Amino acid sequence: MGFVNLLTMAKRFSGIIAILLLLRLTTAAASHEFCDAGMGYNVVGCGGSDSSSRRILIKGGTVVNAHHQEVADVYIDDGIIADVKPNIKVGDEVAVIDATGKFVMPGGIDPHTHLEMEFMGTDSTETIDDFFSGQAAALAGGTTMHIDFVMPVNGSLSLGFKAYVEKAKKSCMDYGFHMTITKWDDTVAREMEIMVKEKGINSFKFFLAYKGIVMINDELLLEGLKKCKSLGALAMVHAENGDAVFEGQKRMIELGITGPEGHALSRPPLLEAEATARAIRLAGFINTPLYIVHVMSIDAMEEIAKARKLGQRVVGEPVVSGLVLNDSGLWDPDFNIAAKFVMSPPIRAPGHGRALQAAVSMGVLQGFHVVPENTGKSAFGKLVGTDHCTFNSTQKAFGIDDFRKIPNGVNGIEERMHLVWDTMVASGKISVTDYVRITSTECARIFNIYPKKGAILPGSDADIIILNPNSSFQISSNSHHSRSDTNVYEGWIGKGKVEITIVGGRIVWENNELKVNLGSGKYIKMPPFNYLFDGIEKADVSYISSLRAPVNRFKAMQ
Ligand SMILES: *[C@@H]1O[C@H](CO)[C@@H](O)[C@H](O)[C@H]1NC(C)=O
Ligand SMILES: *[C@@H]1O[C@H](CO)[C@@H](O)[C@H](O)[C@H]1NC(C)=O
Ligand SMILES: *[C@@H]1O[C@H](CO)[C@@H](O)[C@H](O)[C@H]1NC(C)=O
Ligand SMILES: *[C@@H]1O[C@H](CO)[C@@H](O)[C@H](O)[C@H]1NC(C)=O
Ligand SMILES: [Zn+2]
Repeated sequence: MGFVNLLTMAKRFSGIIAILLLLRLTTAAASHEFCDAGMGYNVVGCGGSDSSSRRILIKGGTVVNAHHQEVADVYIDDGIIADVKPNIKVGDEVAVIDATGKFVMPGGIDPHTHLEMEFMGTDSTETIDDFFSGQAAALAGGTTMHIDFVMPVNGSLSLGFKAYVEKAKKSCMDYGFHMTITKWDDTVAREMEIMVKEKGINSFKFFLAYKGIVMINDELLLEGLKKCKSLGALAMVHAENGDAVFEGQKRMIELGITGPEGHALSRPPLLEAEATARAIRLAGFINTPLYIVHVMSIDAMEEIAKARKLGQRVVGEPVVSGLVLNDSGLWDPDFNIAAKFVMSPPIRAPGHGRALQAAVSMGVLQGFHVVPENTGKSAFGKLVGTDHCTFNSTQKAFGIDDFRKIPNGVNGIEERMHLVWDTMVASGKISVTDYVRITSTECARIFNIYPKKGAILPGSDADIIILNPNSSFQISSNSHHSRSDTNVYEGWIGKGKVEITIVGGRIVWENNELKVNLGSGKYIKMPPFNYLFDGIEKADVSYISSLRAPVNRFKAMQ
């Protein structure tokens, strides 16, 4: 179409363009199949490039990176950031967005999601958000990439990977994969190597909870940690003591506590702290970096703080539900309300969230003042995830008579960016550069895709949000983009609003309207040996030389 202001055109003739695209679709049978996933959303294209503007200039905003902010223009050409500097001049053919008084930031990266996942132990209960609806929700909330957990199929990592490649064909934003380890044997160990060397996976999650389903014991965890170390892959753990949780569940049932509150009571912070401490010490013994997913309690956070003081490479991941919610909802007399808060580890009593927020601001600030670009190797809250894992109220009601059958999980992929801004930046706990660091940049660094992602720099992918600090947002299941009929943040009103989301150089969220391009998201391969591995081998050498052994002993003559 040449040099026309395609953005304006697209708005004026969006109906015609949509029809043209639909016509193109009916001829493309293969893509038609997953285009059905877009029902109810404003899907402007399907399976690739469309006719909206490939060149955009964002003018006059405050451009924020993790290390620096300045008033500048951002020029986007063909999905890539081409230039960042004040007063960029462009021709009439370029779509111009005025961002004066607003923040122009890297799109959020959510390190922890479960889309289209079957919940363990419940037959055929699959999360209500798939790769399309979950990502559409993400984009409406300013998140432009996520890393999802692949579940093995019949214990096979390769079959699991294949299944997720299929599921992700509907994607409308870029995504990466972690691999979940659900059992341990030589085949799994061999397949881990294939995942790292051929499939672009650089992290594996182990479960110290879910006894009898996916839990592994210490012997197998040690094997997993050694394997991760040799591959340069990051070991992740779900840290709760599964044997003790099993005991706690029996105790609650014996006491006649079968409702959602029994879920929290059966797995107190003590059990999270025990498993966190154990995983940290075992990773320290193997000398490999460790990432603890969804840290929910002061008790577990303090174990990470202790490891940090000793210089161990441990990353603690808070999730937004743990930061901003408390457990009061679990005691709601309405089962549907109480059940929607059920996740593991549980949302804790008032006090834990505030302490976790304080720890995030401490960790971030310490890192910032010590070494601007490198926040050190160990910290709690260098990044914030969601554990987005949604089940609707019908699905949650499987556990109406027994909390052990309630599918675990809460929403958050759409809400994270707003809630972290509101509770951390608008309240003055962290700076805007810190915000970028914990919502985007640090995740890109840990999973080794920086600065392709997580930065507004020439050459980076054009995944960008424009946030107006003077606007407000409101959360409700009536207006959210998840397929769930409930929202754990129902009724939340806060400061700061993501007004525009650009993904892969296309505007997909503007004027509260979503225009996603089904099938346009790409799989991002993540290489091994992130910065947490720097110097590991030197520490191994100094460990060996510290042993002062074997001691040469003279054999006594008989
Ligand atoms: C928001 O408010 C601040 C302070 O009053 C002002 O400097 C800025 O320009 C405003 N931004 C917008 C987009 O209105
Ligand atoms: C997984 O195992 C079950 C039971 O053995 C079998 O029916 C199913 O086909 C297997 N799935 C795949 C993808 O191999
Ligand atoms: C706990 O959460 C509820 C519901 O969000 C809120 O109304 C209450 O103020 C919180 N309690 C404390 C002590 O923060
Ligand atoms: C929840 O999802 C299931 C499966 O898609 C559906 O059958 C059910 O009607 C949904 N329930 C609600 C309340 O939306
Ligand atoms: Zn999870």
